[in-house]
Order: sequence, then C-alpha cells, then structure tokens
Amino acid sequence: MEVLIVPDAAAAGARGARIIAALLRDTPAAVLGLATGETQRPLYVELVRRVHAHELRLAAATTFNLDEFVGVAADHPGSFRRAMRQQLFELVDVDPTRVHFPAAASVDEVPEVCARYEAAIEAAGGIDLQLLGIGEDGHIGFNEPTSSLSSRTRLKTLTQRTIDGARAVFSPGEPPRHVVTMGIATILSARRCLLLATGARKARAVAAMVEGPLTAMVPASALQLHARATVIVDEAAAAQLALAAYYRDVERCKPAWQRRADGDDEQAAAVPSALPAPSEP
Ligand code: GLP
Repeated sequence: MEVLIVPDAAAAGARGARIIAALLRDTPAAVLGLATGETQRPLYVELVRRVHAHELRLAAATTFNLDEFVGVAADHPGSFRRAMRQQLFELVDVDPTRVHFPAAASVDEVPEVCARYEAAIEAAGGIDLQLLGIGEDGHIGFNEPTSSLSSRTRLKTLTQRTIDGARAVFSPGEPPRHVVTMGIATILSARRCLLLATGARKARAVAAMVEGPLTAMVPASALQLHARATVIVDEAAAAQLALAAYYRDVERCKPAWQRRADGDDEQAAAVPSALPAPSEP
C-alpha cells in the first residue's frame, strides 16, 4: 500500500485530484468510482477548478458512485446523488448518461438494483480508479465492520454509529437503516484504489487499515490485498502510523516514471514553460 502524507485536508484533496487528472490525461474515457463525504470536498473543488481552467475534461469519463441510502429521493438533502450533483456533476462537463448510482426506491428493489449495478460496471470495462473515504470504524463505502471481504454490491444495514453520523442531513427525520453499497470485492476489482483520510478522528482507523491485521472488523484493511492502493492522509490522520518515516522515504525515492503516472511532474513541467526561452548561443 502506498501512503502519501500531506500537510492538511486541502493538500490531500489537491493531491488526489492530481492523480485523477493524470489518469484522465492518459485515459480520457476512464471509468471512475466516486465517493461522497466531507473528506472528498476539497478534491471535488480542485477537479472543478481544473475543468474551468481547461486543464481537465470529464466529458468522456464514466462514473459509478460507491453507495446510496435506500428509499431516499434524488433531491433529498441526505441523498448522495444530490451531494454529487452539487459538488461536482452540475459544475463540470460530465455526461449525465454516464453517471451511475446504486439507487433503490425500496428494499424490495435492492436485489435487482445490485445485479444491474454490477453488470453496468462490467459492461463499462471495470473501474479504473476507485475513490474512497474511511469511517472512524474502518468502513469503506457502507461496508460496515464484519462485512464479507468477498462481498459484491448489496444491501447493508447501517451500524448505530453510522446512522448517528448521517443524522444532521436527515433531520428532523430519521436516517434510513438500509443502504446499497459496492461490496469489498467490487472495490478490490478496481484497477486502482485511492483512499483519502483527513483529521485526527480518522487516525486510529488509518493505522488499523495500513498497519493492522487484515480483518473484516476493519473493512478498509482489505486494501492490503490490492496491488495498487494509494492512501493519502494529512498529518493529523497519519498520527498513529508507526512507519510514517518510511512512507515519506518511499515517496522521496520515487522514480520519474512513477511520478509522471500520478501527475507529480506537473509542477516541474509548469515552471520551465513559465520562464523566458533560453537565448541562442
Ligand atoms: C460514509 C460514506 C463513506 C465515507 C464515510 C466518511 O459512511 N458511505 O464512503 O467514507 O462516510 O465520510 P467523511 O468523509 O464525511 O468523514
């Protein structure tokens, strides 16, 4: 697992957006797995900025969101469809016909929705990059602790802790107990996973995910099985990592071809072009 430690949440968003921009530069029709949550906001702000600055196009991309509450209308303040529209889709050149959510109007519809979602991901050629956040208990998507590590898109019942976390956007009503989420195996099928975690309250889950045992009690630890998982954490979320100095060393020693693939050559490339052309000898 690659661990990139950056100063703060804004830097984590910018770094994640740079990786997504580099993917879209090389593969404009990439299939993106997207995530909601406060952690992702700075990343979407940066993607929007890049689109408006004509540095990035999303027009040919296809998107699949990780999860959605069951029985929540698309325009409800708690729905992930609304959050994604407000934070990204309405602000960029994304093609609405290429945007996908595992949205079910009722629990009865869930099996059909899940089967169709998995089939749609496969028909799109699989996910090139899956963006992820992490819950304080180590969940990814809505795969709560004890989720099967070989699960596919399916119905999940939320833990009380996750329900309480969602309370604000559903108030004065109650958050739904049921969600549809990509499974852990669905997430692991993506060609690359990119997880962002920021803030001190994520530090314990981050350490358990990266350095703890592989266990269904920490669903994010399943990323240890992925051949290409990148975790971007800010200093606060990295606070409990025993090998933080090593992760910084690994990053310092990255060869140029690895840097290019992640857009890390962007700044280096931008500087010379801003300088006056060298004079003829
Ligand atoms: C929810 C989402 C997760 C997200 C998590 C953390 O449970 N289903 O995908 O990672 O919240 O959200 P936040 O980034 O707001 O801390």
